[in-house]
Formats: sequence, C-alpha cells, structure tokens
Amino acid sequence: MDIKHLRANARERLRPYCRVCRECNGKLCAGEMPGLGGTGSGFSFMNNIAALAEHKLNLRTLHDADSPDTLYTFLEKTIVAPLMAAPITAIGMQTNGRLSDKDWADAVVLGSQQAGTIAWTGDGPDPVHFQAGIEALKKNGVQGVPVIKPRENKSILEYIKRAEEAGALAVGIDVDAAGIINMKAKGQPVSPKNEEQLREIIESTSLPVFLKGIMTSDEADLAAKVGAAGIVVSNHGGRVLDHTPGTAEVLPEIASEVSGRMLVLADGGIRSGADILKMLALGADAVLIGRPLIIGAAGGGAEGVAFILNKLVNEMKAAMILTGCSSLAGISNEILR
Ligand SMILES: Cc1cc2nc3c(=O)[nH]c(=O)nc-3n(C[C@H](O)[C@H](O)[C@H](O)COP(=O)(O)O)c2cc1C
Repeated sequence: MDIKHLRANARERLRPYCRVCRECNGKLCAGEMPGLGGTGSGFSFMNNIAALAEHKLNLRTLHDADSPDTLYTFLEKTIVAPLMAAPITAIGMQTNGRLSDKDWADAVVLGSQQAGTIAWTGDGPDPVHFQAGIEALKKNGVQGVPVIKPRENKSILEYIKRAEEAGALAVGIDVDAAGIINMKAKGQPVSPKNEEQLREIIESTSLPVFLKGIMTSDEADLAAKVGAAGIVVSNHGGRVLDHTPGTAEVLPEIASEVSGRMLVLADGGIRSGADILKMLALGADAVLIGRPLIIGAAGGGAEGVAFILNKLVNEMKAAMILTGCSSLAGISNEILR
C-alpha cells in the first residue's frame, strides 16, 4: 500500500461526500452535512486547521535526541504513541452507504490495533450506530473507548453497561453533542448535563469516564471536580456549533487549568506528526485523529487505517528529532516559537 493509491481509492469510494483534498481543511466541504464537512459556514472546522498552523516549531539539531521514545501509557495500557482513533459514527449516513458503519467500525478497531494503539468508538441517532462499535470491539477481542451521546441519564447508564460487558478500557460522553437535533427527531433526545447528572454517570461505573467536547477552562474545571478521568478538548471536528475557535487556540488555557488533575486530550485538524507535537507542546497528554482515518478506512480498510496511523507516528518521531525531544516528557512549549 502507498499513500497515492490509498487516497485514490478513498476518493473513488467517498465521492461526492469527501473529495480527499490535498489538504483536509474543511474548505471545499464547508457546510456539507450529511457529508464530512463542518457545520454552517464551516469555520469551526477551518479554525482547527488555522489554529494549528499559527504555531511554528523551533528547528534544533545540535543535540543527541536521535531516537525518540514515543511510547505512551494510557490508563495502564502502553500504546505506540500518544495518538488514538477518534470516535466516529453514522458514517454510513454521512456517506450515503459508501462506507458502511460496520466496515468503518471493523477497519478502525483492527487498524488501530495493528498500529499499536486504541480506537474510540461513537454513538449516533440510531442505536445500531453505538452497537456497531461495541460489536467490532467484542468480535475482535480488542479494548476500546466507547463514547456515548449525552442521552437521558437512564440510557447512558444502560449504554455504559454494554461498554463494560465489551471489556472497554474507559467510556466517554461527547457532551458537545447536546444540541444535535436529528437525535431528538429519531426519538433519542440529547441535552446538556448539569453537575448532578455528571456525578450520577461517573459514580455509576468503575470505568474511567471522559468528557469529550470541552472548549472552556471553567467547564474543564467542573469536569475535574465531578471526577472525570479526563477531557477531550474538541469542537467535534467543527460539526456541532458554527464559529467556535480552533482547539489549538483554547488548549493552553484549558491545560493550565486542569493538567495534573486529569488527562487532557485534544483533537481537531491534526493532519501530521508535527501537528501532534504541537498539540502536546500546547498541553495535551494525547490526541485523537478523526477524518484522516476515514480516508484510511475508505482507501484500504483496516490496513489503510494502520497505514495512516503508522505514517503519523513516523512523522512525529522525525519532528521530535528535529526539535530536540528525546521523550514525551521533553516536549514543552519551548519547542514552539
Ligand atoms: C463523520 C464524523 C462523525 C463523527 N461522529 C462522532 C461521534 O459519534 N462521536 C463523537 O464523539 N465524535 C464524533 N465525531 C468527531 C470526532 O470524534 C473528532 O472530534 C473530530 O473528527 C476530530 O477532527 P478531525 O476530523 O479534523 O481530526 C465525528 C466526526 C466526523 C467527521
């Protein structure tokens, strides 16, 4: 497999729902939902790309960091590097069946495993969407992180049980999906969560609980106070609210509020190993990768997902050498200009 063929296959398969652009930046697909674009004007997606592009790396080569160690321990599980597959679901609906939910779930779960990391799985307007991820994890005997929509608490607790039965490593709630109207239209209402509701969810399980979609430091602080294991600084790939800032813009203030009290993960617009390095330098403990893995799965199934993840890890290693970081602990905002 090579990147040219993988991308050509993906372009063929996903047309017209994703053009597999040279740079996956949300411009041509702005507002395309269903599809893989950002909501409305598309600026939330584009702001993710722009916020990362604003940071520059200091090139340093007079040192002895020639074989950087990228191994990362996520909840006592060691993975190849601090990157995991972002939860993505209802891909069948978004691509009009060009990539089915089952094919996607199998590809991302197995491809992540092949690359030495973990897949997060998602939840959508039809209960089969959540189940597709759970089935893929169970069938392949792989531990993952199922992320549940901010449904009524009663349903969340029931979904957590299913994640527990599937041997999940942790669970998440994508709290930023609180306003998704097509969930309500399908009889699966979602809503914002208050402190008491969050505590009920977190106390209902022995699994670590992540809140995904935190974009302000006050809400990160609340997540830590209610006992979340971590947060994902995310605007859902720009798909839930128009005109949000890029995640790399808000990450430093959020990390300075809660780092050390809980894990801080981030996603949105990460397209290269250098982008991963920037997110870590801005305060993330680890990152999640979204759309590039959809392209990997569409272009080459599980192998395609593994190919993209391996490519990101190799790029990250090269970027660590060229910024003088021999270990993850050595990555700080000093590598940023
Ligand atoms: C088609 C699509 C479906 C998604 N489904 C979910 C989901 O079910 N749950 C969730 O938490 N996030 C979902 N996301 C958001 C991703 O988890 C992630 O936050 C985002 O894709 C990261 O940005 P990137 O695609 O630019 O890397 C989805 C994103 C896309 C593009």
